[in-house]
Amino acid sequence: VKAAAASGEVPDMGKRNVMNLLLVGAIGLPATSLVGGYAYFFVPPSAGGGGAGQPAKDKNGNDVKSKEWLKTHLAGDRTLSQGLKGDATYIIVKDDGTIENYGLNAVCTHLGCVVPWNKAENKFKCPCHGSQYNNEGKVIRGPAPLSLALAHANINEADVVVFSPWTETDFRTGLEPWWK
Ligand code: FES
Repeated sequence: VKAAAASGEVPDMGKRNVMNLLLVGAIGLPATSLVGGYAYFFVPPSAGGGGAGQPAKDKNGNDVKSKEWLKTHLAGDRTLSQGLKGDATYIIVKDDGTIENYGLNAVCTHLGCVVPWNKAENKFKCPCHGSQYNNEGKVIRGPAPLSLALAHANINEADVVVFSPWTETDFRTGLEPWWK
């Protein structure tokens, strides 16, 4: 994983991970080791990256198809996929069993750990320094300064979940997106 980061495959994660290693030490787990299994999301890095939309990729690197996904991801589910710029991004299944029209970037706004979903507590809890986010990714406990970034999630004609940049007002805060 280290080598992958160092080789520049995931340039924007590399710095965060180094920060984590330096600052977190043994207290918390840096994103790399915490989610070792997630590393495969980033290999190969998504091609292009430009343009409006980008298919969500599952852990095998395949496009996420909504019908298929919903067979195994039930109401309330929040599962990681590869999103924009290769960032781990949660696909949310609504109470009515359909896919939410936004995804949540799982990168903690504190120092970049990937934040796990805690179903029992109905929130995201960062293992690195204890930040918490509600079920919409709104920060409810620091040290994280900001809510998790949003991305639009739409389902195209081919039934593929497509992420696109969220540039509008953040509906959770009423503020302009900090991630723009
Ligand atoms: Fe510090 Fe998440 S990286 S609380």
